[in-house]
Amino acid sequence: MYDPLSFKIKPSPVILGIESSCDETAAAVVRGRELLSSEIISSAEEQAKYGGVVPEIASRAHIDAVDEVVKRALAGAGVSADGIDGVAVTYGAGLLGALLVGLSFAKGLAYSLGVPLIGVNHIRGHLAAAYLSDPDLKPPYITLLASGGHTAILYTKSALSFKTLAATCDDAAGEAFDKVARVLGLPYPGGVNVEKLALGGKCSVKLPSALVRNAERAQFSYSGLKTAVINAVHNAAQRGEELAREDIACSFQHSAVDALVKKTVEFAVAYGADTVTAGGGVAANGYLRDSLSALCRKAGIRCILPEKKFCTDNAAMIAQEGLTQYLAGNFSPLSLNARAQIPLG
Ligand SMILES: Nc1ncnc2c1ncn2[C@@H]1O[C@H](COP(=O)(O)OP(=O)(O)OP(=O)(O)O)[C@@H](O)[C@H]1O
Ligand SMILES: [Mg+2]
Repeated sequence: MYDPLSFKIKPSPVILGIESSCDETAAAVVRGRELLSSEIISSAEEQAKYGGVVPEIASRAHIDAVDEVVKRALAGAGVSADGIDGVAVTYGAGLLGALLVGLSFAKGLAYSLGVPLIGVNHIRGHLAAAYLSDPDLKPPYITLLASGGHTAILYTKSALSFKTLAATCDDAAGEAFDKVARVLGLPYPGGVNVEKLALGGKCSVKLPSALVRNAERAQFSYSGLKTAVINAVHNAAQRGEELAREDIACSFQHSAVDALVKKTVEFAVAYGADTVTAGGGVAANGYLRDSLSALCRKAGIRCILPEKKFCTDNAAMIAQEGLTQYLAGNFSPLSLNARAQIPLG
């Protein structure tokens, strides 16, 4: 009999985190805020042949990998299955077929071990990645969230609630990096390859900022920036001009990142928050990390960045958010379903 109301809450539990929302099958173990292990089996190489994630291929790869990745995480942590106090798992947002693999596995494991199942919102997981750099992190703080599907500045007032201060009105920053990568002939996954190309470039191509002018409240747009890159490439081709791809990559990176960084620090000052964090795959971008750190330093604000490997999808962040929910007694029923979309708070 599984009853979410019957579980006792331990102060420093061992939480197994499982993530399968896209093309990464991941598992990790924490004891309290201490990370004991983090394992990933990725289908990115297979997906690269198609230039992006094919949902059915992702689901099949999760089925092949989920048991193995959990075994590796438990072995790496030196924990046996009956040492687990809770199973945290991403239930959304993401690809439904992919999510269902991790969720079904987690339900079966939690039920058989008689421990709580903790459904985790993937985006809250990206926010919780900051605990991996600072286990003592305490709200309030401002987070720059920039991933493949989301771009927003969020205000975390207490461990369990955040509000959105600014967001994109169209594409996400990571999506724009991926689309620009394609235009520049770079392989999937695009963001990191745009960053590499930009290293050798000059910021010489005029492109619009990602900040929407004259909006009632701060807002970002990546669709116009992406179109401007496509136009610059096509116009040069039509005129028979050689356009340095590294200069486009560099200019795009600046336009995509500068407005996000500037607004994040402005909000931190306006809200009197002494800490800024970042999360999501684009937060692995070296230029973003350097700019955000430098601007925070100038404003006398602490900047907590997760290690690059914890910015992109991983289960360590899911275990961290699972711990927050566990300590609050937020346990899920076994009827928990996967969700393709969950609106930001
Ligand atoms: N070094 C980098 N520079 C820029 N972008 C990057 C870098 N590394 C990864 N990205 C981008 O981050 C995105 C992947 O991040 P993430 O895994 O968090 O997204 P997702 O899980 O698909 O989306 P979401 O978390 O919104 O559901 C991709 O769009 C990728 O191009
Ligand atoms: Mg993600």
